[in-house]
Amino acid sequence: MSTYVGQPTSRVDGEAKVAGRATYACEQCDVGQPLHGYIVGASVGKGRIAHIDATRAMRSAGVRLVLTHENAPKQAMPDPSVRSQYSRAHPALYSADVHHYGEPVALVVADTLEQARAAAQFVHIEYVTDSGRFDFAANLNSAYAPAIVNAGLATDSAVGDFDPAFASAEVTIDQHYTTPYAYAQPMEPNAAMALWSGDEVTVYFGSQILSEARTAIAATLEMDPTKIHLRSPFTGGGFGSKLGIHAETTLAVLAAREVRQPVKVVLTRQQIFDVVSLRPCMTQHVRLGAAKSGRLIAIGHDAIMSANPNWEYAEQTVAGTRSLYAAPHRRTQHRLVPLDVVRGEDVRAPGDAPGLFAIESAMDELAHALDLDPIELRIKNEPMRNPETGTPYSDRRLVECLREGARRFGWTRRPAKPATRREGRWLVGYGVASASRKQFQAPSSARVRMSPDGIAVVQADMTDIGTGTYTIVAQVAADALELPIERVRVELGSTDYPAGAGAGGSFGASNTCVAVYRACRALKEKMKGDGASAEAEGAIQSMADDPNYSKYTIEAYGAHFAEVGVDTDTGEIRMRRMLGVFAPGRIMNAKTARSQLIGGMTWGISMALHEEAVIDARTGAVVNHDLASYLVPVHADIPDIEVVFLDSRDTKANELGMKGVGELGNCGANAAVANAVFNATGVRVRDLPITIEKLLPGLPRDA
Ligand code: MOS
Repeated sequence: MSTYVGQPTSRVDGEAKVAGRATYACEQCDVGQPLHGYIVGASVGKGRIAHIDATRAMRSAGVRLVLTHENAPKQAMPDPSVRSQYSRAHPALYSADVHHYGEPVALVVADTLEQARAAAQFVHIEYVTDSGRFDFAANLNSAYAPAIVNAGLATDSAVGDFDPAFASAEVTIDQHYTTPYAYAQPMEPNAAMALWSGDEVTVYFGSQILSEARTAIAATLEMDPTKIHLRSPFTGGGFGSKLGIHAETTLAVLAAREVRQPVKVVLTRQQIFDVVSLRPCMTQHVRLGAAKSGRLIAIGHDAIMSANPNWEYAEQTVAGTRSLYAAPHRRTQHRLVPLDVVRGEDVRAPGDAPGLFAIESAMDELAHALDLDPIELRIKNEPMRNPETGTPYSDRRLVECLREGARRFGWTRRPAKPATRREGRWLVGYGVASASRKQFQAPSSARVRMSPDGIAVVQADMTDIGTGTYTIVAQVAADALELPIERVRVELGSTDYPAGAGAGGSFGASNTCVAVYRACRALKEKMKGDGASAEAEGAIQSMADDPNYSKYTIEAYGAHFAEVGVDTDTGEIRMRRMLGVFAPGRIMNAKTARSQLIGGMTWGISMALHEEAVIDARTGAVVNHDLASYLVPVHADIPDIEVVFLDSRDTKANELGMKGVGELGNCGANAAVANAVFNATGVRVRDLPITIEKLLPGLPRDA
């Protein structure tokens, strides 16, 4: 019976948010008068601090402490054998060496933010500069194969015999696609506030995964994790940038211990570009070999990306291709180019966001070469089973998404030949791309208790990063306990509550909801027994221990449709409308799920047309390190976006039949836009973002 699950229930925390009662990390008022820490970043991209002098900064008004590598407490170095990078130590100010531009080299702590920031200018630093590697294209020949890529996936894969199959194919596509450095840049800047009591520390900070952050802080300071208390009741977006901790958290904790007062460190928007991680820039090589009928014979997809050698990170860029389309001969590869730039970490839809841009653009190119409808090409190559592992799909429905989307979008009105539809000055085109995203399951637990006043209190260390977790957990619990939703209270974002995998990788909702569901079922059983108020816990195991995750390919699918107009004179691209049809299993909340997908599709437009962080190849500095020059779309850039869910339940994924929706909207949406631009103009841009400069030279000239 579901009364609440699936309904478009408004956010249970919505009122608190609009009334300002939802307090974010550094807004906590019950911690006395915190001091403010301001980070000083290195002004060279590679080298060593030869001399650092904080005397003048220390004499500045209000300054209590200046931490540098010379006086910072000893910290542990990250242990690469720890499987998750987010659980590893994250030391700051641990050496005189500079590994990338803007790396923290000092923290100035003062009574006010202004005093700290002003005094930061007086920290005198002399560097010995080394020649760094900052130019991706110039260093491609140093690419190497990492042992493993993100999420524990294999670096390479091979089925059949790719080279001869590709060489003998009747029609081939052989192209390179490039995507730039990109950032998560959440609305709430990365920030932390720490306060010590004896040998225990409480940290308020914006976080996606509290349990890993606790492990990371414990590893850094070599302390007992049970003495670390983390709070993140509300997180203002993360998109990967709050999966782990960064220097602001480490430094707040260290400084607060030194001054024996609470210390908060809030990154400025500019500092986020230097202190928090980025999505690597990359070049992808896609080779498709097909018969004239459109049947794929060979699929090759290789990615080469940037990586700072001190913190190796390989985005699983080509992993999505491994299960997307049938072909007997296939190979995929990931390679890393060591560069002295900001470390790579997950940014929304790691892997599939850049990866599907390449493979779904290439599929569009193949359809064009074959003179075949791009939807028909995809349907022709629909696999019956995972083409690399041979396992059946738990619940795929990609073909249904494509067909239903085509019907709703009016795909038959798509110009069959590129650059043939004119509406005044505008060239109009349609594009399509598949969406796919792997489903992850990681150990998570939750607790529910009936309070004497008849309120069910649900607790988990899960975070709500703006996605609506509080609401869907309340819906699940209300249904499972057969209570009105008003009688459910959800408490999240504290390490005092049962530990889980947190919010990330589109796994948060399903892991948490299943754990909560199981806790509620257990509580109901208990209450049947003694009728008294009781408490119960529920948990979900890791995918490695769940036989379904080895028996089935468990992924979420969808299809994106885009219509663009391109101004023939200026090359300006305007999105006209967009549709996404998705089959991600059971929808917990029609409203919040739709919002997630719209957000993801908006990001897809942003990747296609706007976002690009530029690193100066001479200095390693991020040149456009603010939201004025690192472009993100504004309202006027985003058209009417329609989201449709195909009703389904993936019973192989879990007993609620649900999978993740957070990243799915950002998987393939960029390719749908790029393909629409090609359909409108006949110009294929393989280098994101698609800017006027790249488009204009190829636009058809009026006779
Ligand atoms: Mo995800 S990269 O945890 O938004």
